[in-house]
Amino acid sequence: MSMPDKSTARAASLYIHVPFCAQKCAYCAFYSESSTGHLINRYVSALIRELEMIADDLKPRTIFFGGGTPSLLNLRQWGRILHAMERLDLLGAEEFTVECNPATVSTDKASLLRSFGVNRFSMGVQSLDETLLERLGRIHSREMVFKSFDALRRAGFDNLNLDLMFAIPGQTLETWRATLAEALALGSEHLSSYEVIYEDDTPMFAQLQAGEFDVDEDLGCAMYDELVERATAAGFHQYEIANFARRAKANESTVHSPPSYRSRVRTVDCGQATVDLPAFACKHNVNYWRGGSFYGLGPSATSYVRGVRTKNWSNTQLYCEQLEKGNRAIESHEELPPLKRAGETAAFGLRMVAGWPFEEFKRTTSFDLRREWPAEMSQLAGRGWGEILSDSFRLTPRGLRFADAAAEMFLR
Ligand SMILES: C[S@@+](CC[C@H](N)C(=O)[O-])C[C@H]1O[C@@H](n2cnc3c(N)ncnc32)[C@H](O)[C@@H]1O
Ligand code: SF4
Repeated sequence: MSMPDKSTARAASLYIHVPFCAQKCAYCAFYSESSTGHLINRYVSALIRELEMIADDLKPRTIFFGGGTPSLLNLRQWGRILHAMERLDLLGAEEFTVECNPATVSTDKASLLRSFGVNRFSMGVQSLDETLLERLGRIHSREMVFKSFDALRRAGFDNLNLDLMFAIPGQTLETWRATLAEALALGSEHLSSYEVIYEDDTPMFAQLQAGEFDVDEDLGCAMYDELVERATAAGFHQYEIANFARRAKANESTVHSPPSYRSRVRTVDCGQATVDLPAFACKHNVNYWRGGSFYGLGPSATSYVRGVRTKNWSNTQLYCEQLEKGNRAIESHEELPPLKRAGETAAFGLRMVAGWPFEEFKRTTSFDLRREWPAEMSQLAGRGWGEILSDSFRLTPRGLRFADAAAEMFLR
């Protein structure tokens, strides 16, 4: 393997994929499997090996453990990973998120993670309606959501995200309103909410194909409108199509004591985003949408470093075998021509409500949006989907609803 080029900046973002779930949900196409303790231990060793290989090229400002279900790892497995990260000088990120399933949160785990600098949890709630939770194949009850949320608060976490899904088969506007109201009342700092995507090779896609239910697009739109309206009324600021964050802590008196690790936290700059973001926006995801570099480790994870995109094998056995032999577990490499890469960066960034400031886009990609895509921007503005401002281009609320179609126009 060639050594990283140290003459250029080290990547500031680290994603780690944990490819295990207690049970596969009916809609989910993320790479994960239900698994035995033996494979999980083998994965942990392989992951540490992979961390050792890239540590010199990394200075994480944001870390995100996603999955899969990272909270499924036990205390010993977490201890091994976090000690390795400490040894490799990878701790101390400004934002360190761990995804969790409400059924697998424990106070001991939360405290351990916090003592190593984890300062944000993202909880997969999806719905607070028991019938829909079952329909989705979730392993948790609504009660577990409230209990886990409390446990995380008691462990001192003051930056929590909840994931919700809408347009679930069988969901009515009323059940969606009820879930939204209860989720908002929990008072998290961040909310992500996605319309169900029917992914190939999932049981829910097969049910749709078999005609077991229909997709009601108007209802989906009404649910999205409800989401934006209610979340905004509850004090959230929408900063991306599906993401809402608080501008600042609602009640400063609820801020908990700082984590013990914080005394060792490095001072890091806030990255390259120049748009106005709410205080609790997910910095890790903002880096993706802004075309920043990142390392992705673990099976199926993607990295994007110095313009090269690589993807690891989506097979945990193969991933482990490769790392045990001393190889990175990379399945594919792709180096896009600069204009094509800039087009993708434009498309991703338009998911954000603030759109693209022209100067920031130029600094990130070396291309000028106004010079390369004037016709596309005018066309979107003409349709009422886009807005050309003196210093930026952004989608309108209507355009955001059709962001995928709008973004596609920028791909070259
Ligand atoms: C990779 S999951 C990780 C969270 C954790 N494993 C859990 O589910 O509890 C991240 C989020 O993606 C969303 N998601 C996954 N598959 C989806 C789909 N097919 N359509 C819409 N949202 C989806 C869910 O809201 C989920 O919480
Ligand atoms: S949604 Fe989360 S818990 Fe369900 S299968 Fe996907 S990654 Fe696993």
